[in-house]
Amino acid sequence: MEAASQTPVPLDFLGGLERTHRCGDLRPGDVGKRVVLMGWVHRRRDLGGLIFIHLRDRSGVSQVVFNQERADVHARAGLLRSEFVIAVEGPLVRRDDDTINPELTTGEVEVAAEKVYILNTSRTPPFLVEEDLSVGEDIRLRHRYIDLRRPHMQRNLILRHKVNFAIRKAMDEQEFYEIETPFMTRSTPEGARDFLVPSRLQLGSFYALPQSPQLFKQLLMIAGYDRYFQIARCFRDEDLRADRQPEFTQLDLEMSFIRESDVFDVIERVMQGAAEAAGHPTPERPFARMTYDEAMERHGSDKPDLRVPAMTRVDDLFPAGELPVPDGMPLMAIRIPSVGTLTRRERDELKPLGSELGLRVFDDMRRLGRDFAEPLRNVYERAGVEDDDLLVLVTIANRPTGPKPQETALKAAGTFRLQVAQKYQDRHGLFDKEDFRFLWVTDFPMFEWDEDEQSWNAAHHPFTSVHDEDLGHLLSEPHRCRSKAYDLVLNGIELGSGSIRIHRRDVQAKVFQALGFTDEQARHRFGFFLEALEYGTPPHGGIALGLDRLVMLLAGETTIRDVIPFPKTAKGTDLMCEAPSTVPGRQLTELGIELRPGIRQMMTGRSGE
Ligand code: AMO
Repeated sequence: MEAASQTPVPLDFLGGLERTHRCGDLRPGDVGKRVVLMGWVHRRRDLGGLIFIHLRDRSGVSQVVFNQERADVHARAGLLRSEFVIAVEGPLVRRDDDTINPELTTGEVEVAAEKVYILNTSRTPPFLVEEDLSVGEDIRLRHRYIDLRRPHMQRNLILRHKVNFAIRKAMDEQEFYEIETPFMTRSTPEGARDFLVPSRLQLGSFYALPQSPQLFKQLLMIAGYDRYFQIARCFRDEDLRADRQPEFTQLDLEMSFIRESDVFDVIERVMQGAAEAAGHPTPERPFARMTYDEAMERHGSDKPDLRVPAMTRVDDLFPAGELPVPDGMPLMAIRIPSVGTLTRRERDELKPLGSELGLRVFDDMRRLGRDFAEPLRNVYERAGVEDDDLLVLVTIANRPTGPKPQETALKAAGTFRLQVAQKYQDRHGLFDKEDFRFLWVTDFPMFEWDEDEQSWNAAHHPFTSVHDEDLGHLLSEPHRCRSKAYDLVLNGIELGSGSIRIHRRDVQAKVFQALGFTDEQARHRFGFFLEALEYGTPPHGGIALGLDRLVMLLAGETTIRDVIPFPKTAKGTDLMCEAPSTVPGRQLTELGIELRPGIRQMMTGRSGE
């Protein structure tokens, strides 16, 4: 147990003391100046006659030295412990050559303390404020305010600020207005569950927190604002993953009298600003584009990672019926560059990987027999195989059921391709975090078949325009309809989604009909919006980008939790403030809410754990 928690340390007042520098800013040019630093005790080394501390603030660390020749100050310094908050005053001196610390930007100088003010003590922290931590994420989240002191986390949050700032600048330069929309509203149509807020003034009624500002931004177009944006908080009650949080932030925008390419243009400029703000090279415009069908055929995914080469369809290169490929299903050549020769054991590992995805894997070309020498040569040529590349052929083992068997087969091949690429990533180095490959995926299908509900769902959301030439097929052949929806993908991650919207009331009615909404249902959910569509709605469209995901990728992180100051766990819990929490019965009564007995019992059980 540290002395701090045993004997109370007498504290000093800040009084009129003024900070002259931040800890990380001191340089040899400042030598001779009298400086006042304030911050946290990062490390302490007590050599008896000399006490060294590293003093930390958000700008970095400086060394402060306490010499016993100043006995009173030296004695006070003896009381210092990790994370105490102090101020020190004294001249800045140059360190002797042999004590220069090249790991610190301030490593050539130190403060020779003549005064120390202990402004506050600290309990022994549950973990050290260090770059590399071996403690579990739960402990970090429980004491997030300590975790956020780590330079790593500070860098991430500062980066987030810079990216936000660059986005606002780029939007302003492109004549967008930032307009806030409500948090307490009605259900919005993004397809997740809503978080509900009970109303006290209208018992039995609930607000829903917005899953996105979708309808409000369209209403702003109807209201004539022409170009809107918002860095908007959104709320979705859905299962969480590394790139999903129940509350997250979007760069949300909407524009009037535009085509898809206008949205792309705006966003590409914003992405250039964001990448530059994060210290990366400016991404080249225009970004690559690919239709949904092309993305499926070549990458087996609607969010292709362009760092990995595309797949090549090769069934036409083999004599019909000679390979065990189910009728009409694709045979895909997967090429992963620079993997080198696989050992027998490594090759044997590929088959089970494929079987788990329902694939048949042809890993060893020689085992296909001599007859295929000619087709194989053509495969190598078409797939552009080079010496050290790994080439694997895959097909679906059994024809899939469902309305889109080809797509199912391609998706399985695409997943396999990524898994194999990940397995050998040390060999090919394709997954370079600094290699930012933006891609627009366009022409998504308008509808998705919901197997459980046996009905069509909107693939994006029900306010998305159908292609002009597919308008006539909305009711007769919904599966054929393509939408004016697009995604922005970065290195295999969906960064954003948007669409050109429906601006005509008659088309909106038809889409609702195709989705199986009765007039009554449509009016009940979106009546106010349908009415607004009747008062002069301009053609318009927009997009929303996941800001957390963007910052995660720019920061080189693998989870959005590391770029969100106070995130929730996979169970949707805030471990620090222990939310969600129970509330006093009185508060529920006021809201007209009574918990079912089963739930009360469950809660008592939980609190007794
Ligand atoms: P969509 O639902 O595709 O579109 O969301 C847009 C982007 O928001 C991010 N995102 C999330 N990020 C973190 N946690 C989540 N739970 C989460 N859910 C979504 C993703 C996603 O690409 N209103 C439409 C946009 C439009 O049509 O303009 C919308 O919200 O990066």
